[in-house]
Amino acid sequence: MNARELDRSRFSRLAALITRELGIRMPPAKVPMLETRLQRRLRELGLRSVEDYERYLFDPAHADHELVHFLDLATTNKTDFFREPQHLDYLVDTALPTLRAKGASDHCRLWSAGCSTGQEAYTLAIVLAEYALRDAPGFSYSILATDVSQRALDQARTATYAESQLAPIALELRKRHLLRSKDRRRALVRIAPQLRAKVRFARLNFMDREYRVRDEFDVIFFRNVMIYFDKPTQEAVMQKLCRNLRQGGYVFIGHSESLAGLDLPLKAVANSVFRKVR
Ligand SMILES: C[S@@+](CC[C@H](N)C(=O)[O-])C[C@H]1O[C@@H](n2cnc3c(N)ncnc32)[C@H](O)[C@@H]1O
Repeated sequence: MNARELDRSRFSRLAALITRELGIRMPPAKVPMLETRLQRRLRELGLRSVEDYERYLFDPAHADHELVHFLDLATTNKTDFFREPQHLDYLVDTALPTLRAKGASDHCRLWSAGCSTGQEAYTLAIVLAEYALRDAPGFSYSILATDVSQRALDQARTATYAESQLAPIALELRKRHLLRSKDRRRALVRIAPQLRAKVRFARLNFMDREYRVRDEFDVIFFRNVMIYFDKPTQEAVMQKLCRNLRQGGYVFIGHSESLAGLDLPLKAVANSVFRKVR
């Protein structure tokens, strides 16, 4: 049997594992996606069938290592620079001035939670560098960026992107914060070192019982992640994120997401923007 013939019961087992480990819902409509990605992994490992793969995955000799790869197959890492730019305007025009007026220190801690390949974290780094430059001399910031996907994190840490991804970044900002590859045939850019130094990447699974994050954040961007979770998982994850959010701190969620009906210490302050109230 080859990966094309992934049968329903086998899929159910693998899908249940994905949901248990990552919280990501795996309805039957996702079978073709999983199938295609699994085939790629089978080729990498030189395995012939999904059955062989299951054996390999559950073999204690490489279970931990392979589980990281397997879970990578289930994540959707679509992202962009300057995605949902209204959030960035709100951050600079309202959230940061409010936080700073409240007598907070001039150091702002941000968390890009579910950062994928890093575009969200580096966008925040650019926006905050500009804010410091224009509006708030003496202001400093640091960004924690986490994801469960090792593949996405490896890419994020290179801070290297194809020029074709840069359209959402204003020309002036590109000039200030991006470095072009010396080899012009490669059409790549790299985030400038002073911005790279502001962002720390770490692997974190939102399904973990406790998050090994010690900081208390002023701002959490948690966008386009919980859309893959069911309601109880959304509530549990948001509650844990809120533990690392300081009183009065801000949470940004994706525009197509909602916190309606969840029991959280947050109040809505703008479209898909919330503040911690207790
Ligand atoms: C669609 S991307 C969103 C990226 C970025 N926040 C944005 O809005 O552009 C969703 C990310 O959530 C991550 N993710 C999904 N389930 C996760 C989990 N249980 N723990 C941590 N990250 C998870 C995926 O690996 C993926 O990179």
